[in-house]
Amino acid sequence: MFPEHPFTIWGTHCGNCGNVCSILQNAHHPWNCTPFTVKLKCSTCGHDVTIDQKAAEAFYNHKILTRFEGLFGYVVDLGCGGGFLSRFLLQNKNIKRIDGLDRDPDCLKATEDLAASDQRFNFTRTELRRLNALYDKNSTDFIVSRDVFMFIDDTEQYFDDVSSIATRGVRQMGWYMTDNHRMKNGLQPQKIAEAYQKRGWQVSLEYLDWYKSGYFIKTWH
Ligand SMILES: C[S@@+](CC[C@H](N)C(=O)[O-])C[C@H]1O[C@@H](n2cnc3c(N)ncnc32)[C@H](O)[C@@H]1O
Ligand SMILES: [Zn+2]
Repeated sequence: MFPEHPFTIWGTHCGNCGNVCSILQNAHHPWNCTPFTVKLKCSTCGHDVTIDQKAAEAFYNHKILTRFEGLFGYVVDLGCGGGFLSRFLLQNKNIKRIDGLDRDPDCLKATEDLAASDQRFNFTRTELRRLNALYDKNSTDFIVSRDVFMFIDDTEQYFDDVSSIATRGVRQMGWYMTDNHRMKNGLQPQKIAEAYQKRGWQVSLEYLDWYKSGYFIKTWH
């Protein structure tokens, strides 16, 4: 069974010794503007550490984004939203091109600054079910997504398309919650991993105790 849980991490580095100081908590998400702060003592040096929302957000973002390091070539950001992943990926000079895809027309405006400042980024408004019409077989290196997979209804087509289009691998972060009304499919992370395996990928599945009901899947050949 997938270990569903309500926790996100609030963390920072000790101002004295640099040790990571963090707690898991379920009252405040690090992205929600709040005056809430966490006060704790560094377990290494005993220094008083305060974690405010800005610090928690930076720490949480870093934890997410480091899972998307090490990519290169041509990357497709599925359900790119405002470009959370693409913004980070563009810092990686080994990435030669990023396509941000999303069906929400507002994402064009939300990623306008990215497209204007970096020619490697392009936004396309599209339904993800059109992937195989947009891309030829073996035409990209990596496919990335965060909090998108659960919105896909035809998952078999998704796995076929992604497996046909990406030559190097997939990096997928997401959450799974039983009977959550926003989910368009009920695939548990273990089943997602198996679906990739069935299509010839090597797969690692990591359960994230610091990301609300979160998981991270990496595939490669
Ligand atoms: C929770 S947001 C995540 C955005 C971004 N990946 C991030 O990390 O901030 C999910 C995004 O997926 C897009 N999306 C969901 N289902 C989609 C579909 N079937 N086709 C295209 N975009 C979709 C939504 O419009 C939304 O922008
Ligand atoms: Zn310390």
